[in-house]
Amino acid sequence: MSGNLVSENWDDIAGWWVDAIRDDPTQSEEPLALLSELIEGTGGRTIDLGCGEGQAMRLLGSSVIGTDLSHDLLKTVAPAGRVAQARLPDMSWIREGSFDRAVSVGLIDLIPDHASFFANAAKIVRSEGHLVVVMNHPVATAPRSDPLVDPEGEILWRWGDYLTCGVTAQEAGGRIVELFHRPMGELLAAAGQAGWTLVRMTERGPSERTIECFPEYRGQENIPSLLGIVWTRT
Ligand SMILES: C[S@@+](CC[C@H](N)C(=O)[O-])C[C@H]1O[C@@H](n2cnc3c(N)ncnc32)[C@H](O)[C@@H]1O
Repeated sequence: MSGNLVSENWDDIAGWWVDAIRDDPTQSEEPLALLSELIEGTGGRTIDLGCGEGQAMRLLGSSVIGTDLSHDLLKTVAPAGRVAQARLPDMSWIREGSFDRAVSVGLIDLIPDHASFFANAAKIVRSEGHLVVVMNHPVATAPRSDPLVDPEGEILWRWGDYLTCGVTAQEAGGRIVELFHRPMGELLAAAGQAGWTLVRMTERGPSERTIECFPEYRGQENIPSLLGIVWTRT
């Protein structure tokens, strides 16, 4: 499996990701709708951590810098704003306190060291600034978690190894992406230890639009799949 693993660079699956943004509402409309809600009351100089092909930057507007590991994806961002290629969670190349807001969509569970992600984001965002994160809900990233149908046809959720940190291998564009799972308590504790105070947290299941595109999600409307959190730096 290791030869098939997307650990070094998303360049290998950049084309797949661009297609997913176009065709799959769980990768585009859903996270962007949640992001639009969460950014209310935040603003200013913004960095998009793990910007991909730039969909969140297009939503956020002009004073945004994007950073990502994938050169191929960054090439597609150019019309949306300035970009820098870097491997997160290292942010040592960014001046301390230089942003009012950091935004990150779909990145944290690709990063093996979430504690460094929160600590480094706290350095580059000014005091009273914000960190806005949209990510896979931990319920959905736990190894061996899955929907199950009970004898009456109701869809239930198998929690799998929810309560411990672990890794789930997920197929993506013919390759394998590792999702680093952390239970909710671990995520919130790590952010708190890094100096982030929780402002808002929102959990979502699949939207009606997603169910239209992928009817197999019907019955999972109340099973969380997406998580959005806003913190402020104290
Ligand atoms: C699921 S995509 C999300 C992209 C974008 N935020 C969006 O919502 O469209 C994950 C992105 O994280 C980037 N990525 C993965 N590991 C990274 C790392 N260690 N440092 C920086 N970017 C990384 C990938 O290149 C990819 O663009």
